[in-house]
Amino acid sequence: MSETETLIKFLLTRRSIRKFKKDPVPLDVVKRILDIARYAPSAGNRQPWIFIVVSDPEVKSRLAKIHRWAYPLEEAPMGIVVACNKDVSPDSYYVDCANATMYIMLAAHAYGLGTVWLQTLRNVEDIQKILNLPANYIPVSMLAIGYPAESPSPKSRKDLKEIAYLNSFGNPLQ
Ligand SMILES: Cc1cc2nc3c(=O)[nH]c(=O)nc-3n(C[C@H](O)[C@H](O)[C@H](O)COP(=O)(O)O)c2cc1C
Repeated sequence: MSETETLIKFLLTRRSIRKFKKDPVPLDVVKRILDIARYAPSAGNRQPWIFIVVSDPEVKSRLAKIHRWAYPLEEAPMGIVVACNKDVSPDSYYVDCANATMYIMLAAHAYGLGTVWLQTLRNVEDIQKILNLPANYIPVSMLAIGYPAESPSPKSRKDLKEIAYLNSFGNPLQ
């Protein structure tokens, strides 16, 4: 397989993982993943993000209960919350934090770890309280992370012809 195909296969084999082995994620691996996340692009290179690693079972459990779809965090050995300082990048903090989150997910995948992105945006104040985050730090994402205990099939995707246009909306990319 060419290097390009290997890299593309890597992208296409990432899955959201919601069942995890009990094995802990080594701290040096987590640190390396977060070190890589620093290289995500951000508007004006302002890097408005911070990363909170959650290993305390009680804190993790509180976060896992913020809404019904956050349950994967309960059994995951670790969580990571990506929060952005909205004062540093008022127009772009959501996308900056999303970029950093994707870098974490892909770096984790490279280490054989599974992740799932857990919605935070309807529970911002709850999460700020649990993590002692100042009001200007918006938790844009939360990940459950650990070694996968499942290998889900790929989720379906829209056809490219439904979503790709040439030069103008509605003009199909033949
Ligand atoms: C912004 C965002 C919020 C999400 N929230 C949740 C969530 O709360 N719980 C969950 O189990 N999955 C959540 N997901 C994961 C999606 O369900 C998943 O990415 C999607 O179904 C595609 O599957 P895949 O990641 O395996 O390709 C979220 C993903 C994104 C990007």
